[in-house]
Amino acid sequence: MKTKEEAVQQRKVVVVGAGAVGATYCYALAQSGLAGEIVLIDLNEELVKGQVLDLVHGQPFFPPVIIRSGTESDYAGAQLVVITAGAAQKPGETRLQLLKKNAGIVGGIAESVAKQGCRGVMLIVSNPVDVLTYVALKRSGWERERVIGSGTVLDSARFRHLLGKHCDVDVHNIHAYFLGEHGDSEFAAWSMTHVAGIPIGQYCEVCGKCEGWKDKRKEIEQQVRDSADHIIDSKGSTYFAVGLALVKITGSILRNQNSVLPVSIYLDGEYGIKDVCLSVPCVVSVNGIEKIIDTPLASDEHVALMHSADILHKAIESLK
Ligand SMILES: NC(=O)c1ccc[n+]([C@@H]2O[C@H](COP(=O)([O-])OP(=O)(O)OC[C@H]3O[C@@H](n4cnc5c(N)ncnc54)[C@H](O)[C@@H]3O)[C@@H](O)[C@H]2O)c1
Repeated sequence: MKTKEEAVQQRKVVVVGAGAVGATYCYALAQSGLAGEIVLIDLNEELVKGQVLDLVHGQPFFPPVIIRSGTESDYAGAQLVVITAGAAQKPGETRLQLLKKNAGIVGGIAESVAKQGCRGVMLIVSNPVDVLTYVALKRSGWERERVIGSGTVLDSARFRHLLGKHCDVDVHNIHAYFLGEHGDSEFAAWSMTHVAGIPIGQYCEVCGKCEGWKDKRKEIEQQVRDSADHIIDSKGSTYFAVGLALVKITGSILRNQNSVLPVSIYLDGEYGIKDVCLSVPCVVSVNGIEKIIDTPLASDEHVALMHSADILHKAIESLK
């Protein structure tokens, strides 16, 4: 029989980065009841102390969960390590300088997770998430299935929200994905978009609610791409929806749920793409990626995916 410690350890989640995204994720994760133990780590120890205290005071209102601060040695028993650590852009700093800095931070953490003998899954959230997932994979030396990026799970949620609103249909009845780079070159996979189980093109004929649907599609797609900028303009950063997207990914890992999610994964020939991490639909389980769903896309979508891969290859090259 498992000891109590072993049972809890199997649902141990270590979160590196106690900023807005890391703390919001912890808050949502604690309420979900998915984790047995949540361990928070940050370079800023005062911040961790404050976040942990604030979270544990919610314990009477959550399902049972241990919440505490930790150290690198906690990686050893983690079933999932979520990396939200990153530096903020300084005045005068270029995007490339910031990319190099964050690659150093995330690469260093990934190396340490591997060194501590963690046998779980690593989930990268820090941006640019696809490039940093690639860096974490290389620095950890792990098999690709265990190093994933949150990718376009958030963007796909934004897409579903907008489609649900436009079609006047419950968001839960909409299956839809944004794929490619989590960034400007991401695109809507319209060929995979279903409302009430019907391909969107067919649903539009049944619905007949709007005219000029083709233009509307472009508008919705652009609105998804612009979402983060709008939120950042209004309140400085985004953290609520991404926190929930991370809980969804966590659930699929801790519960071995085999959810299909557009996470960022290293491609080795799938979709005709090699040596880059980007988002395609994947079956996510306790092992990380159980299966990459490699299926033909519409030709314009395949071009868009190749364009994302090209941009990401260049970003990876710029780090060398
Ligand atoms: N993938 C997505 O969908 C998505 C969505 C929103 C934000 N993000 C990204 O998530 C990251 C975090 O965002 P945030 O708003 O929480 O930022 P934040 O600045 O509030 O928090 C980042 C934290 O990382 C910590 N940190 C820096 N270096 C560290 C290290 N070596 N070890 C441990 N901790 C370290 C900092 O002290 C800080 O507390 C950013 O890169 C952001 O762009 C990703």
